[in-house]
Amino acid sequence: MSALPDMRHEDVRGEWRECTWTYFDGTSRRLLVTDVETRFPTGELIVSQTDVDGIITMCNEAFVHMSGYSRDELIGSPHAILRHPDMPRAAFADLWSTVEQGTRWSGYVKNLRRDGGFYWVYATVIPKVVDGVVVGHTSVRREPSREKVRQLAAVYATMRDEEVRA
Ligand SMILES: Cc1cc2nc3c(=O)[nH]c(=O)nc-3n(C[C@H](O)[C@H](O)[C@H](O)COP(=O)(O)O)c2cc1C
Repeated sequence: MSALPDMRHEDVRGEWRECTWTYFDGTSRRLLVTDVETRFPTGELIVSQTDVDGIITMCNEAFVHMSGYSRDELIGSPHAILRHPDMPRAAFADLWSTVEQGTRWSGYVKNLRRDGGFYWVYATVIPKVVDGVVVGHTSVRREPSREKVRQLAAVYATMRDEEVRA
């Protein structure tokens, strides 16, 4: 994917910490991360579609609102624009190896907003298969269980520690 633009201090709300994140493909981006949570809007669904490589081709209003990016910034960007450094690499490796086989994947994801804050979702990624070939993906996110978020935050933190040490 083409390198994502660095996050900018003027876009961030709250006290931030800075890190350089290197994505799966070797490109890097400066991240500015805060501890400010935006709660999932009850009763709504956050929806996006991507091409086979995870480039966003469509998203709904709730996606725009929760991510903090404009629709123009989102369409054509890789989904990794929302990647939070607290998420273990193993979670996305599992996501990709599942959907590449044409099978749907569900899991809890902590996403990074444009303003440095975060929001948790329970995501289901559904591959679109035409004549036996995966041609794209749809992701539908629902409000996550708070109890599960508490559990997964701890599990993911342990997984990240192990990944950093490895
Ligand atoms: C349909 C679809 C939706 C995705 N949604 C997200 C998302 O909401 N947040 C996220 O961090 N990654 C999401 N991903 C995974 C990203 O493509 C990417 O693998 C991830 O952000 C980790 O980046 P990396 O693989 O470059 O390390 C999604 C992938 C697909 C195919």
